[in-house]
Amino acid sequence: MKRLFVSLVAVSTVLLAAVATAVTPATAAEVTLRTLAAARNLRVGAAVNDRGLDSDNGYRDKLRYEFNSVTPETAMKWVNLEPEPGVYTWGKADAVVSFAQQNNQMVRGHTLVWHSALPTWVSDGSLSDQELRAALQRHVETTVKRYAGRVAVWDVVNEVLAEDGTLKQTIWLKRLGPGYIADAFRWARAADPSAKLYINDYNAEWSNPKRTALYNLVRDLRAQGVPIDGVGFQTHSLIKDPTPETIPPTQLRSTLELFAGLGVDVAVTELDVRLKLPVDERKLAAQAEIYRRVTAACVAVARCVSLTVWSLTDRYSWVPAVVPGWGAAHPLDAALARKPAYDQMQAVLADRNFTSTAVASHSGKCLAAPSGGAQFVQAVCGSGADQRLLFRRAAPKIYQIVDSSGTLCLTTGSGSALVRRTCALDSTDQRFELRPSGQGHQLVSVRTYKCVGVADGSTAAGAVVEQVSCSAGPTWRLADLPGHP
Ligand code: G3I
Repeated sequence: MKRLFVSLVAVSTVLLAAVATAVTPATAAEVTLRTLAAARNLRVGAAVNDRGLDSDNGYRDKLRYEFNSVTPETAMKWVNLEPEPGVYTWGKADAVVSFAQQNNQMVRGHTLVWHSALPTWVSDGSLSDQELRAALQRHVETTVKRYAGRVAVWDVVNEVLAEDGTLKQTIWLKRLGPGYIADAFRWARAADPSAKLYINDYNAEWSNPKRTALYNLVRDLRAQGVPIDGVGFQTHSLIKDPTPETIPPTQLRSTLELFAGLGVDVAVTELDVRLKLPVDERKLAAQAEIYRRVTAACVAVARCVSLTVWSLTDRYSWVPAVVPGWGAAHPLDAALARKPAYDQMQAVLADRNFTSTAVASHSGKCLAAPSGGAQFVQAVCGSGADQRLLFRRAAPKIYQIVDSSGTLCLTTGSGSALVRRTCALDSTDQRFELRPSGQGHQLVSVRTYKCVGVADGSTAAGAVVEQVSCSAGPTWRLADLPGHP
């Protein structure tokens, strides 16, 4: 039960400063996570607690206004759908789906095949292997068909791997053999071809044997034609006692990119960050940093299609009962008030600026603003600050390109010149459209419609950049362009 995505985060002055600059209540009231996520074509979701949904209006309001995706925390688990063979109790699951439909929210179905939350008649060993397999197939098909067209995503199999990367010795593996995984996906696909089918697990968010095994399993099953559309990373985390030591930074972004490289969607499916009680400001700040990092990782990866928190409030949390002495794991406190974790999620979703290098396709050299210079040049790529340019969003897809001083912007000058001038956000001279082209983007002046390039396609280091015809100009690879700009 203890899903340890152990991520102790240093509480640094930067971190506390970040919390201190969290979005102020006045602006916070204006934009919800849902509004900000929708603007990025992203789903931000929450696990739904049955009691809260049934009888807590404050909870229901937060659920509808802050999230555009919902996951039943327990209502769609086999034990709660078919407590006795053939006796179906759909009520709580139906309530989640109905709420989602009323509020135009996506539903992530959770979960069809798991070794936990099974009805006794399935887990007690009274069924033969054949009867067990038939029961599983009937469960998958009946459940998916019932919600066909209303549940957009299914966690088809959940937690099939052990920490060492071997298949977990569950009832399913022991009784049905490893083929149960492929079977479950095929049964689900046949039952609702429109649903996206995921494999979901924890502790695969960073480089370790389990992540390697998950990667190989998805790769190999897809190679066999098994319909796996996505990989869910639960991302349960914890903070013991934030100390200045820095624990290796989360590798979530690179993990999401690694799996997206398999041609599947990825998702953060069960984010929470439990704290060792009692709570204090330092722990809340460290918690907020993990929420910030996870949100930033998903925003950065185009195929990260959803980020779900595993309860939106401390008021209804699985943690205290399962992990005694721990709690306060969620973005809203028990009074449904925003915690620094919420503010950091909101700040990431609201922040449309990004810092990146820009590598020219024709020369492999980087756009650079040498300190003290009057222009931008192409230079041999390096780690200097002069090549870490701030792309400050002026409008959808329109950015200023700001040098490391933070005050001087790439500006169209007379003729084909490009110069560095003090930034003025409303100046069309300093606005460039990021236009997708090839493996990168053209940087197109919104004033002259010419592109950032180098005269005669020169590859020389130190050559100044100027406005060139977009038909001949280079594309620029922006390594850190968020996947959800
Ligand atoms: O509803 C009954 C209640 O009537 C009864 O009085 C009470 C005491 O026995 O139990 C209640 O049911 C509990 C249910 O949560 C609803 O609160 C179950 O005992 C309890 O086992 C169940 O725990 C859930 C757990 O999965 C097992 O299904 C947690 O809420 C839920 O957060 C947790 O979620 C899992 C994901 O599905 C998979 N990844 C890990 C994650 C956290 O463990």
